[in-house]
Amino acid sequence: MDESRFAKRMQNMAGNVIRELLKLTQQPDIISFAGGLPSQDSFPAEILAEIAQDVIRNNPSILQYGTTEGYWPLREWVADWVKDIGISAKAEDVLITSGSQQGIDLIAKALLDPGDKVVMESPTYLAAIQILKTYEASYAIVHGDGSGIFVDELDSILTREKPKLIYLVPTFQNPTGITLSLERRQELGKMLSRHQVIVVEDDPYGRLRYSGNALPAIKACDESSQVAFFGSFSKIVSPGIRVGFAIAPAPVLRKMVIGKQGTDVHTSNLSQALVYEFCRRGLLEPHIAGINQQYGHKLKTMRECLSMLPADIKWTNPEGGLFLWAEFPEHIKAATLFEAAVKEKVAFVPGESFFVEGGHTNTARFNFSNASEENIREGFRRLAQVFSKM
Ligand SMILES: Cc1ncc(COP(=O)(O)O)c(C=O)c1O
Repeated sequence: MDESRFAKRMQNMAGNVIRELLKLTQQPDIISFAGGLPSQDSFPAEILAEIAQDVIRNNPSILQYGTTEGYWPLREWVADWVKDIGISAKAEDVLITSGSQQGIDLIAKALLDPGDKVVMESPTYLAAIQILKTYEASYAIVHGDGSGIFVDELDSILTREKPKLIYLVPTFQNPTGITLSLERRQELGKMLSRHQVIVVEDDPYGRLRYSGNALPAIKACDESSQVAFFGSFSKIVSPGIRVGFAIAPAPVLRKMVIGKQGTDVHTSNLSQALVYEFCRRGLLEPHIAGINQQYGHKLKTMRECLSMLPADIKWTNPEGGLFLWAEFPEHIKAATLFEAAVKEKVAFVPGESFFVEGGHTNTARFNFSNASEENIREGFRRLAQVFSKM
């Protein structure tokens, strides 16, 4: 069909590159470090099956339509849970979303007109770039280092460009695994009070910590109530059930609710009740501890395997999350490496598409949660061969 028949905002918009790549890497004999998938054996399938039976039998009203804001007991539970990261919220402040992805879409829908500016890290979460393009926003980039974004640079951008929104993944970032330091969180919290802007603190990975100490959320350091915190049960229970949440300043949350009414009415009641019951029974924390043990071993294994590859590759050294990020020497094109790697039945994601401005063709993202430790070792043996042939 002729592109001009589509809405202008959708014309020439490519699909999410990773979703396309995943089709290729889902061949059964490929060892994939490409997707951001939790390990399938981490899903609490048996217990969720039991809970599903219980809630449908004992509380059939969850099969009815629910409120757009979400299942009240889960909203109450979330408001209490986030105290651990320093956020003080009431159940009324919590909107249950269909994954934290939906939170990003709803806040963009609520705030952005075409041409409005959004500040982003670069590289950043690919789907956030896609959402920004859908709402025809423009962007400014805030740079950073191994301790996260430079807050003074952000301060200057806010003064100069007056953006409406800042999108950050401050803990175990996707794709780099980098975490914003405590000092910079506090600095950011103070700095925000000099500006009018909404910050999205997207945090689907914060509880996946394998070493080091937990940090307060940026929202906990925010002195001007301008931070919207997005959480998710995707990486700590299951991504397929699609349950996340947003805790945002009341006027912003209200507009997100109105946007959600038109999008999906509400997040699946059954999914919300499953998550709530799982949490209420005290199963979440031991489950997270189990996952962290498993993923911590996998991260350690992958880091040990890095020595099989050329020494001039720079790697991030995250304390949690799902990803390692590689920067190859300038002359190496990750896309060429990817093609050669897929022939050897191993895959990763070339990094270019995580950069809102493009370029950076010598970078790549490696996921360590989905492959077994044995396959991580075998995958890196294969990658070493690819490098030696190149
Ligand atoms: C930074 C970031 N935000 C949001 C999401 C979406 O997560 P959910 O499954 O909660 O929608 C992901 C998933 O990979 C992510 O990496």
